[in-house]
Amino acid sequence: MSICYHEGSREFHLSNRDISYIITVLKNGQLGQLYFGKKLHDRESFAHLLELRHRPMAVCTYEGDSTFSMEHIKQEYPSYGAGDMRYPAVEILQENGSRITDFVYQTHRIYDGKPALAGLPATYTEDSKEAQTLEIELKDELIHTTLILYYTIFEELPAITRSAKVIYHGTEKIVLERAMSCSVDLPDHDYQMIELTGAWGRERAVTERKLQYGIQGIYSMRGCSSSNFNPFLALRRENTTEACGEVYGFSLVYSGNFLAQAEVDTYDVTRVTLGIHPDRFSWEMKNGDEFQTPEAVMVYSNRGLNGMSQAFHSLYRARLARGYWRDRPRPILINNWEATYFDFNEQKIYELAEKAAGLGIELFVLDDGWFGKRNDDTSSLGDWYPNEEKLKGGLRLLAERINGLGLKFGMWIEPEMVNKDSDLYRKHPDWVFAEVGRNMCHSRNQYVLDFSKKEVRDYIYDMLERLFLDLPISYIKWDMNRTLSDIFSNGNDREYQGKTYHKYILGVYELYERLIQKFPDILFESCASGGARFDPGMLYYAPQAWTSDNTDAVQRLKIQYGTSMVYPISSIGSHVSASPNHQTGRETSMEMRADVAYFGTFGYELDLMELTEEDLEKIREQVVFMKEHRSLIHHGTFYRLKSPFEGNETAWMVVAKDRREALVAYYRILQPTNTGFCRLKLEGLDEEVMYQIEDLDYDCYGDELMQSGLILSDTASGVRNSKWKEKGDFQARLIKLTAI
Ligand code: GLA
Repeated sequence: MSICYHEGSREFHLSNRDISYIITVLKNGQLGQLYFGKKLHDRESFAHLLELRHRPMAVCTYEGDSTFSMEHIKQEYPSYGAGDMRYPAVEILQENGSRITDFVYQTHRIYDGKPALAGLPATYTEDSKEAQTLEIELKDELIHTTLILYYTIFEELPAITRSAKVIYHGTEKIVLERAMSCSVDLPDHDYQMIELTGAWGRERAVTERKLQYGIQGIYSMRGCSSSNFNPFLALRRENTTEACGEVYGFSLVYSGNFLAQAEVDTYDVTRVTLGIHPDRFSWEMKNGDEFQTPEAVMVYSNRGLNGMSQAFHSLYRARLARGYWRDRPRPILINNWEATYFDFNEQKIYELAEKAAGLGIELFVLDDGWFGKRNDDTSSLGDWYPNEEKLKGGLRLLAERINGLGLKFGMWIEPEMVNKDSDLYRKHPDWVFAEVGRNMCHSRNQYVLDFSKKEVRDYIYDMLERLFLDLPISYIKWDMNRTLSDIFSNGNDREYQGKTYHKYILGVYELYERLIQKFPDILFESCASGGARFDPGMLYYAPQAWTSDNTDAVQRLKIQYGTSMVYPISSIGSHVSASPNHQTGRETSMEMRADVAYFGTFGYELDLMELTEEDLEKIREQVVFMKEHRSLIHHGTFYRLKSPFEGNETAWMVVAKDRREALVAYYRILQPTNTGFCRLKLEGLDEEVMYQIEDLDYDCYGDELMQSGLILSDTASGVRNSKWKEKGDFQARLIKLTAI
C-alpha cells in the first residue's frame, strides 16, 4: 500500500494490491480526478487522462485557452462558480450573497494510520501500518476558508475512506449550505445503480436501475438513515454478477439525513456524491469555526458484488464496530417482545427466562414496557425508571433472579423519545422539537426530544447512568421508533435551526459514546422500528442492529440478503419467532425459521411456554448448533449465491478464513414438482482441498464444488436425501463442508 506524490506532475497515486485512485492538482489549483479502479502501474504522470479539449459552448477558465473547462474536467471536490455546471460538493453562502468559491491547493500531508473524526463515527486502524492517509489542504483566499480533504487507503482492502473539513478564518459570517463527504467523477455511465430500498417490515430490498442522463439518487430527510433508503449505492457493470465483474460501492458512515446521488452529464461522465443532505442543512460559521463532514467509504471490486460486500464486511466488522463485544461470541438471546408485547409481569418474565435457561439460551432481553407506567404505547417514554406496578418485586430483583438462572440480563430503551403522558414531558414540555403555535405531529404517540441540546442529553444520560449502575445489565437494545418531522429547536435562533438535524444526530452519537465509555462491557444493539437506522454510523457504537420487525423467515431471506450487501453478518439481528408469524400470518417450520436466523446475531422472540416438548427439543439443538457455528458464521467470509429477488430459491454460504470449513444454506419458497436437476456453484473454497459434505455419501474437491457445483436436486427429480424429501413449501437446507 502506498500513497505517492509526484512533484513534477502534482499527482497523488493511492494504491494497494487491488486498487488505484489518482488525483491531480489542476492548472487552476483545484483538484482533478484521474482514475479510480483496479490497480495501475504507477508512473510520473497520468496527465493524458485529463482529456482537455475544446467543446462548443464550454465555459473556460483562461482567456486564450478554450480547452480548460471545469464543466468537462473530472473533479475531486467541485464547487460552484468555476464553470462546472453539475452539482457541487461544497457550497458556501457569503455575506454579500455570493456562492462562488475557489479552493486552491496549498499543501498536503501523507502519514501512516488514520485520524479520528471528532464527534463522528469513523473507521479506524489498530496498527498505523494498516492504512495510509493523505490530507490535502486547499484554500479560498477571498473568503478566508480552508478546506481539508482526507483520504485513507487500507492495506488489505479495496477501500478508500474520504471526508472533508471546512475551517473558517474570516470575520464576516458564512453559511455552509452543502458539504458532501465525497464526490467522484467516473469517465462513463454504463452502469446499473444498485440501492437498498424499502419501508417498515421490508427493509433494504436490492433495487436496480440503469443510469440515465441527469440526476438519480436516494436520500433521507427523516432525521434517521431510514428504512426507505439506506445510505449506500453501488454502480455495477451490466454483466457484473455476485461472483464476478466490476462494481463500485459507496457507503456513508452517518445515521441522519443523507443524499447519495449519481449525476450523469450529457458527455457521459458520472458524478457520484454522498453526504449530509443539503436540504434542511445550513451551517453558519464564524471566525475559528470548523465543520467536519461524516466519512464516506468507497470500495472497488472486480470480483463481483460479493467482492464489494466482503470488503465492507471486513472493514465494518473489525474496523468500524468497536469495543468489548466486537470479536466476542455474541450471546444467543431471548427477547420477550413478540412473546408478551406489553402484557407481562414479573412472574411471566421469570418463567420465560427459566425456560430459556433450560434450553441453553444465554441472554434475556426485557423489551418495551418495563418502565414508568407503560402498559401500551401511549405513555411513559422518557421515564426511565422501573414500572413498579408491573414488576412488584422491583426490576433489580428480577434481573438478579434471571442472572441466578445463568442468563445475562438486557433491556430495551428508547432514549430519544417522549410521550406526552410522562413525568419528563410534564416537567419539560419545551424539550421536544416543536414550533409554538403549530400542531405537533406524533408517530406512535411519541415526540422527539431535542437532542441537539446538551441539557436534554445530560438529563437522559443521568437517568440511564443511574439505571445501569443499579442493575446487572449486560445488553441494551436502543430503539428509535419515529422519524423526525416539523423540526424546530425551541429557544434557539434562526441560524441554529439550519443546524438542528445534524446536531441532533451528533447528540445521539454523544450520548452513545458517553454510555459506552462508562459501561464498556454492555453489548448495545441499535434498533429503529426494526431496521430504520441500520447504517454504518450506528455500527460504530452498537456492533449489532435489529434488522427488521418482520421476523417472517421467508421475508427475512430478502431482508437479510439485501442487508448483507453492506453489513457484516455479525451485525444482523435475527430471531426465531412464532408460527404463524405475527407480521405475515405465514406458517413455517422451526427448522426453516432457525436456518434463516442463524445468519445473523441469533436469538428467539416467541412464547416458549406455548411450545410443544418437540419444539423445545429442537430449540435446544439449534442453540447447540449456533454455539458451535457462530464463530464461523460471524467471522467467516460470506458469499451470496442465489438471490431471493430473482426466483423461488435463495442460497448463501460462509467460508472459514482458513477455508477448512464452510456452511452452505439453501432455501426454497414453494415446492416445485418434477423439476430439472439442480446444482449450486459454491464459492470461496480451496480448490486443492477435499471436503466432506454433510448428509452426502461422497466427498468432493473444492474445485468441483465451485466449477461443477453441489448437487441439490430434490426428491421429485429423483434424489437421495431423505431429510429433504419430506418437506413441502418453505424449505431450508444447511450443508456443512469440512476439509478432510
Ligand atoms: C420497535 C422494535 C421492536 C420492539 C418494539 C417495542 O418496534 O423494533 O422490536 O422493541 O419497538 O415497542
